[in-house]
Amino acid sequence: MIIYLCLNCEAEHDIHCLYPGSGYVNYCPVCGSDRIQRLKEVFVDSRKVLYSGGKNDECYTPAEGVMPILEYIPKGKIVWCPFDTEKSNFVKLIDNCIFSHIDNGQDFYTYEPPNWDMLISNPPYTNKRKIFERALSFGKPFAMLMSNTWLNDAAPKQLFYEKDLQLLMFDKRIKYSNNGIIQNKITFSSSYYCYNFLPKQIIMAKL
Ligand SMILES: C[S@@+](CC[C@H](N)C(=O)[O-])C[C@H]1O[C@@H](n2cnc3c(N)ncnc32)[C@H](O)[C@@H]1O
Repeated sequence: MIIYLCLNCEAEHDIHCLYPGSGYVNYCPVCGSDRIQRLKEVFVDSRKVLYSGGKNDECYTPAEGVMPILEYIPKGKIVWCPFDTEKSNFVKLIDNCIFSHIDNGQDFYTYEPPNWDMLISNPPYTNKRKIFERALSFGKPFAMLMSNTWLNDAAPKQLFYEKDLQLLMFDKRIKYSNNGIIQNKITFSSSYYCYNFLPKQIIMAKL
């Protein structure tokens, strides 16, 4: 597997994509830049690739990024936050919330709490397709934050081909924090990618 480095936002990733009409061009799935450099080739088994982490996997959502989704949670519903600990702003701000996290041995790919109604979180950016596949497999409503550049990929179109993708979009970029530091130079905008969650397909909200 070839690992690429984005010279713009410094994300590391392992995919390349086709831009129509321009041949194969590597671009960053996080910020969309085509300033991509081949970094290294690694030889690992596919299971390790599936679970390997990227640099942007530890970006934490500020309260202002959680607030806009709160009004769409029906009263009394149990919300599962599967990428969260008690420190998460999702966990702090959602009333009827249960949470799980890989650090507590609760791997989203294998773990599911016994009783929940809808899923909300900001998942890791590594293996987006697998994460959304798993979320869709439950058949329950979900809302997950993801970069808008992901819409350039084939994956969301294929995954939502027969399902209505809903988007809660924002007027500004969410400033995530990393290692306790708020990222003021966020190079990408994000939306909640939702399934069966919003009252209409696209909603524009103010941060
Ligand atoms: C982008 S961060 C977001 C954290 C939190 N949801 C928030 O918004 O502040 C994603 C988190 O998911 C965790 N994670 C990665 N893979 C996971 C998995 N397979 N199951 C559960 N958690 C995972 C990462 O360690 C990371 O803390």
